[in-house]
Amino acid sequence: MASVIRKIILEKKVAAAVCSASFRFYSSSGVANVDTQKSKLTQREFVLTDKIGAKKNVGLITLNRPKALNALCDGLMKDLSDAIDEFENDDEIATLMITGKGRAFAAGADIKEMQNRTFAEVYGGNFLSHWLRVSQCKKPVLAAVNGYALGGGCELAMMCDIIYASETAKFGQPEIILGTIPGAGGTQRLTRAAGKSKSMEICLTGNQFSAEEAERIGLVSKVLPPDQLIPETLKVAEKIGENSKLIVAMAKEAVNKAYELTLQEGLHFERRVFHSTFATKDRIEGMSAFVEKRPPKFQDE
Ligand code: CAA
Repeated sequence: MASVIRKIILEKKVAAAVCSASFRFYSSSGVANVDTQKSKLTQREFVLTDKIGAKKNVGLITLNRPKALNALCDGLMKDLSDAIDEFENDDEIATLMITGKGRAFAAGADIKEMQNRTFAEVYGGNFLSHWLRVSQCKKPVLAAVNGYALGGGCELAMMCDIIYASETAKFGQPEIILGTIPGAGGTQRLTRAAGKSKSMEICLTGNQFSAEEAERIGLVSKVLPPDQLIPETLKVAEKIGENSKLIVAMAKEAVNKAYELTLQEGLHFERRVFHSTFATKDRIEGMSAFVEKRPPKFQDE
């Protein structure tokens, strides 16, 4: 418990230092905020980016390597990380959405790229460690899984905060068939979502499973007709975007702690973060708006 309190105090000091350096609370990389009124989104080889929704406050990232079923080659993962950095540092963006172009969300790590790699190369280079960027994003990230989400593709979806899937989506961790095992969270995040027996079955057989099954086992929160996938995911992204970005980041951090801490530590952390909301202008505004029977106007402060 003492270590949790020390961590909270340390995190508050870091947040204060970040604020005093005039960067935004949720700006992760220390890069000065992008002035999106003037700047255009960066063009990239393997991902497309766009600002969508009525307020253009949802950052859409489309994995764009359809001929290879969006296999997650190093270049694509670098582009994805850079796109997340760009949206995270953009004050106009409240939430991020990731989807895939063509018939796949992503069919996994690039097998052709991995085929001749040696143990020394993957261990020495800490292969896959750079995939963490998605799970480190402070803004909510929604996966709109449009087709195959296999191996690293399923793992990428599981790094996101909310997964919506098309009825045609197929999930799986087929690494065992390639003589390897999931390396970007498959054995860990899937087990936390679906439990031991299901996760063992999926990881040890390599069998694919449907979107309906993914929803049944708790991996996916909604299954939609293909033409409704993007509009419905956007709807929830926009709904989240109506709230204070600051408080949303705090809520996301608290939910994620449920994966890391014991129940007592988690409850303690949650209560402390809840207490912290009382130091924000947005908590005062939210409660005042309710009492005054008007919609809240959040300032992300
Ligand atoms: N890596 C590299 N290329 C891939 C790929 C991958 N993971 N998945 C598909 N492709 C390529 C295919 O090689 C093919 O390219 P060519 O036209 O140049 O031959 C193209 O995408 C289309 O694929 P298919 O012809 O195979 O399409 P299909 O409809 O017959 O089958 C599929 C679709 C079932 C998804 C099949 O492509 C497949 O099984 N893909 C591999 C899935 C997989 O094993 N993923 C796990 C990778 S390992 C991993 O991800 C490790 C980790 O934990 C990070």
